[in-house]
Amino acid sequence: MRSHEAGALHGQAGDRGPAWLKVPEDPNRLVPRLWSDGVSKVDGVLTVAGESVADLAAEFGTPTYVVDEDDFRRRARGFRDAFPAADVYYAGKAFLCVAAARWIADEGLNLDVCSGGELAVALRADFPPARIGLHGNNKSVAELRRALEVGVGRIIIDSVLEIERLRDLTAELGVTAPVMIRVTAGVEAHTHEYLSTSHEDQKFGFSIAGGDALDAVRRVLAEPGLELRGLHSHIGSQIFVTDGFEVAARRVLRLHAQIEKELGVALPEFDLGGGFGIAYTTQDDPSTPEDLARGMLKIVDDECAAMGIAVPHLSIEPGRAIAGPSTFTLYEVGTTKTVALDGGASRRYVSVDGGMSDNIRPALYGADYSCTLASRASDAPAVLSRVVGKHCESGDIVVKDEFLPGDVVDGDLLAVPGTGAYCRSLASNYNHVPRAAVVAVRNGEARLILRRETEDDLLALDLG
Ligand SMILES: Cc1ncc(COP(=O)(O)O)c(C=O)c1O
Repeated sequence: MRSHEAGALHGQAGDRGPAWLKVPEDPNRLVPRLWSDGVSKVDGVLTVAGESVADLAAEFGTPTYVVDEDDFRRRARGFRDAFPAADVYYAGKAFLCVAAARWIADEGLNLDVCSGGELAVALRADFPPARIGLHGNNKSVAELRRALEVGVGRIIIDSVLEIERLRDLTAELGVTAPVMIRVTAGVEAHTHEYLSTSHEDQKFGFSIAGGDALDAVRRVLAEPGLELRGLHSHIGSQIFVTDGFEVAARRVLRLHAQIEKELGVALPEFDLGGGFGIAYTTQDDPSTPEDLARGMLKIVDDECAAMGIAVPHLSIEPGRAIAGPSTFTLYEVGTTKTVALDGGASRRYVSVDGGMSDNIRPALYGADYSCTLASRASDAPAVLSRVVGKHCESGDIVVKDEFLPGDVVDGDLLAVPGTGAYCRSLASNYNHVPRAAVVAVRNGEARLILRRETEDDLLALDLG
């Protein structure tokens, strides 16, 4: 989506919304695969795990992220069970707080963190450090020192400087650092497409094609304080099929085999990263963890057999696919207006009490979302609507196109599914709007797991 100084997206003549967006027979009806397991409508009111959104809004206010805890846990288990012989690292960058870290620990997964702050949350949750992996293209000496001091299970190296920092820190602390090396396989994947290039113009990892990866392996093997566990590759996000993983796996395993042949070292592990897609709208058809596992495990087995090497211990790092679908954001409608478009069409703008400060993805990536009227049933005909935020920014769009009942008014509650990943974790205080609360619901019980920020919290930073 192109943002335009004068306005986010000038309506196209006779705009009826994107081709994939069908006019629903009943705009009240939920599309099951867009919502978490525990969500349904009771007399038109959205309900999750036995709690109605009317009660949730009354108790916790809006905007609020509502997490279906059992759904989150089931999705975590789903990956663990689909990849029984692998280590599944939940990518905390998608959404992390003490409660979520504990759910992940409970369900037997490992945790991938990519900053000192995420590591601090994990430690506050008493997450076993040996099951934590530390990522990041620019880890500070302080972050590396903390990771070594608490004994994280692995550090994924991303630069030559980091090898030197770890050499010095392990010597100083008298410890051995278990490490992986992040390599770039020349693959960029997204939904059904993947781009296969010989090299990659991006900040992460060591290039296989350029020889940097093999050079990094040699450097790490020469350091007595570093224990090289294996190679790591992450090829993209919102991936629906395994094609890109196949190319990446082949290229990384080819390097793995070369290391074994030329350097005489059989690396025990291999990580294929995350990136598993979810359904945000009716146009999305992501694969299940089982389907992905079947495809990826076969790829790894076949490639290793073809190269005559032992199959290394696999790990993966799903984030979005565990956190994303488990959560919806609950908003209250503040204002509505209908705007005439060229060619006689019109668009209904529905403004809610949140926006890009709680979900930056539409503005940042042009991401699509869906939406439903959550506080009542309506028999008004569906009209093409755009749900927008309260921020002074024309790109402040929450849901670009959705058919909502034409009688949505201020005071109604709207719910946007699929906001469990990269929403709260990317939240901001734009326009000094406090960040929204996060509520977990389970068995008819709702509890606050991240409290709403207050203006006093914001002012506490302001030294005048
Ligand atoms: C190294 C790495 N692993 C895992 C992930 C998680 O990706 P996703 O949430 O799409 O599964 C990311 C996301 O950027 C990543 O950079």
